[in-house]
Amino acid sequence: MTKKVIPLIDSRSFLPPSLPPTLPSILEAPTGLIADELGRPLHDLRISVTDRCNFRCVYCMPRAVFDKDYAFLPHTALLSFEEITRLASLFVAHGVHKIRLTGGEPLLRKHIETLIAMLSALKTPDGKELDLTLTTNGSLLAKKAQALKDAGLKRVTVSLDALDENIFQRMNDADFPVSEVLRGLDVAHQVGLGPIKVNMVVKRGVNDQEILPMARYFKNTPYILRFIEYMDVGASNGWKMDEVVPSAEVAQLIQTELPMQPVAANYLGETAQRWRYADGIGEIGLISSVTQAFCHDCSRARLSTEGKLYTCLFASAGHDLRALLRSECSDQEISSVIGQLWRARDDRYSELRTQNTEGLASPRKKVEMSYIGG
Ligand code: GTP
Ligand code: 5AD
Ligand code: SF4
Ligand code: SF4
Repeated sequence: MTKKVIPLIDSRSFLPPSLPPTLPSILEAPTGLIADELGRPLHDLRISVTDRCNFRCVYCMPRAVFDKDYAFLPHTALLSFEEITRLASLFVAHGVHKIRLTGGEPLLRKHIETLIAMLSALKTPDGKELDLTLTTNGSLLAKKAQALKDAGLKRVTVSLDALDENIFQRMNDADFPVSEVLRGLDVAHQVGLGPIKVNMVVKRGVNDQEILPMARYFKNTPYILRFIEYMDVGASNGWKMDEVVPSAEVAQLIQTELPMQPVAANYLGETAQRWRYADGIGEIGLISSVTQAFCHDCSRARLSTEGKLYTCLFASAGHDLRALLRSECSDQEISSVIGQLWRARDDRYSELRTQNTEGLASPRKKVEMSYIGG
């Protein structure tokens, strides 16, 4: 490394150390096509824009850990919109055509629509617009949907774990009413932020009785409901295998009342298995990251709030791209680092976990989903 690189300093002990990036000796121009060690292309970039959230979902940011003393990142640690856009453009040159903004709750980041406008101006090497989307808890969606649409956001995915008020509040632990999320969905639909997906994480004994009510309700709406297996992501949610409701069980339960047929994936590497209702009205998705891992086609890179690149949701360390941005590195140098890191990628945590149940209660440190982005 010839240039001065300012490394990240982790203020919180549970955060894994950063990996200092090394500049390759030969710089390469991106070709728009790049494959990792397992032949997987780089298609999808998920950018966490804040590690903060106004919810405390039990499976993601349990209040006992994310309490008033929790040290969230200081503003100076966050990538600026210019830094995010610069990195995003380099990823796009390597083949990324979908960008998802996540968090934490991305709509808490001030002036998020400015970032969206900057990202929506990026084009793929063959001149196409990006699939620019965002995952939100819906709490600020009614207020912000129009501005997001005007800035160039294409669609949104909204998290909603129950329709029953008590169960929803037990999941979000923030006294947030269901009706406001439903209003957010409505406004997002009206302004044209579709196709809209609704994500429901199912935790046995907490919201599994909501599977059928959610399926019934969303069947007659324009929204695609997706059931997500509760994952052992991060180190704070106290995950146990017996709290996971396997997708096969979800499908069986819904089939008893609402017959369904499987449908082909929209694209290679789609996280959800799609099912369409036999009467032709509506579809659902099953995201089976625990019982049927989908690492073999995983083309997702993740950029944390403070600019570390994670090549897997379950990685224990991230590559400090912010250090490169805040040094005098050129685009070509940073692009070469990204290429080098992607080519070396061999992550397949969920498949290994599925193959080796011994590894279920993994002792190694993992980053929190609110920090790395969902
Ligand atoms: P579409 O672009 O609409 O197809 O969305 P997506 O498939 O990218 O899904 P989304 O971002 O809504 O992710 C849904 C959920 O799937 C996440 O919140 C995670 O729970 C899970 N998930 C997404 N990506 C991964 C991944 O790479 N690995 C694992 N294990 N789970 C993932
Ligand atoms: N398991 C599965 N999905 C999770 N999410 C957060 N934590 C978990 C977990 N432990 C996902 C949910 C939510 C999104 C923001 O992150 O899908 O909708
Ligand atoms: Fe916030 Fe989403 Fe995590 Fe819930 S799942 S705490 S809404 S980031
Ligand atoms: Fe991709 Fe890692 Fe998730 Fe597997 S566990 S699908 S490699 S992010």
